Amino acid sequence: MNSQNPFPIGVPVSGEELADRETELQTIVKEVESGGRLFLISPRRYGKTSLLLEARRRLQPRIPVAYLDLFQATSLAHFLDLFAKAVLESVEGAVEKAIRVAGEYLRAIRPTMTVNPQGEPEWSIGSSQQQADLLELRDQILALPGNLAKRKKLRLAVFMDEFQEVRNFDGLALEKAMRASFQQQPQISYVFAGSKESIMWDMVRSRKSPFFRSGPTLSLGPLPAAEFTRFLSTKFKKAGMSISKEKLGEILRLADEIPYNVQYLCHALWNVKQDPGEISGGDMARAVKYVLSAETAYYVSLWDQFSLHQRRTVRALARSGAVAPFNKTFLAEYDLGPSASVARSLAQLLKYQILRKAEKRYRFADPFFRLWVQTKIA
Ligand SMILES: Nc1ncnc2c1ncn2[C@@H]1O[C@H](COP(=O)(O)OP(=O)(O)OP(=O)(O)O)[C@@H](O)[C@H]1O
Ligand SMILES: [Mg+2]
Repeated sequence: MNSQNPFPIGVPVSGEELADRETELQTIVKEVESGGRLFLISPRRYGKTSLLLEARRRLQPRIPVAYLDLFQATSLAHFLDLFAKAVLESVEGAVEKAIRVAGEYLRAIRPTMTVNPQGEPEWSIGSSQQQADLLELRDQILALPGNLAKRKKLRLAVFMDEFQEVRNFDGLALEKAMRASFQQQPQISYVFAGSKESIMWDMVRSRKSPFFRSGPTLSLGPLPAAEFTRFLSTKFKKAGMSISKEKLGEILRLADEIPYNVQYLCHALWNVKQDPGEISGGDMARAVKYVLSAETAYYVSLWDQFSLHQRRTVRALARSGAVAPFNKTFLAEYDLGPSASVARSLAQLLKYQILRKAEKRYRFADPFFRLWVQTKIA
């Protein structure tokens, strides 16, 4: 049997590893080619990063793409560092050249080279939160893509993943500065991707937001079931296993059709199945057990952080199929008290991204956590 698990989990997938998403990819590529600004919005683990990286692969070297992940940024200065480095490296390639060019465009920076714990060379533009002229540097850095593209006479795109995090630094100030700067850069395409859906929608739909109506949106839903099951079935076959349509349907249901969770269950099935051949009901049960035990430490830590009322709300939702009728009988059955308390708990659970709201229904962001609550919390 092939020794490498053919179902990748938690890492961005591209090329042959990417199921479907052709329409979405074409939308991104077209929008970038036409110099547009696109907002890619989807819940966590639906495959945003994979799409961005695959679009980048298709666009380069024709159009260099700077990619940065805002989850990594721990301050405004750190964000500026990531932004400047991604832009300079996408255009200049070699780090030494990028550093030299940084010095030409950005005043008051002290580029430094270091070695990270893995022993790889790293560089930084050397900005800091304490710097008196940080806001001036911010504006120079935001203008960098436009200035570089003009001088080098090339097109350029910037992809910002987890873009909602931009609001962590100084409220709307950075967003406002971006909007003002990017408006002066018609030759640069921007893709803003985010998983905190309510913030992302607020950015494009609320009149108070700097990016109000500044570009089209693309929402990412589940992968079409027929395509996804065909894709998975081929993978099992290549690994010397076969799986029935019914069982694949069951996997999609247990994983709430979330690509990451679907792949995780398949990953677990491959791990627990000892011999090649047809996947049985016993294998399915073992795979679910494998996933729940792998995640238990994390789920316990989540549960531990909830208030008692939040725990009752989560338990009620897990058991009721997360449809949440919230009528009197339901509130009484799960001892949830007045509906104002339920509203408060639900708001917190949405904020922690334990739940998400889709078509007016509350769903578990992680369907395996729901399974864990159903099985472990009596
Ligand atoms: N189109 C796809 N085809 C096959 N698997 C996919 C696809 N999209 C996502 N996945 C699965 O989901 C996992 C997560 O993908 P990715 O990191 O791109 O998602 P994400 O939305 O960026 O997640 P996060 O919210 O954690 O940043 C992948 O490792 C893969 O298992
Ligand atoms: Mg991602």
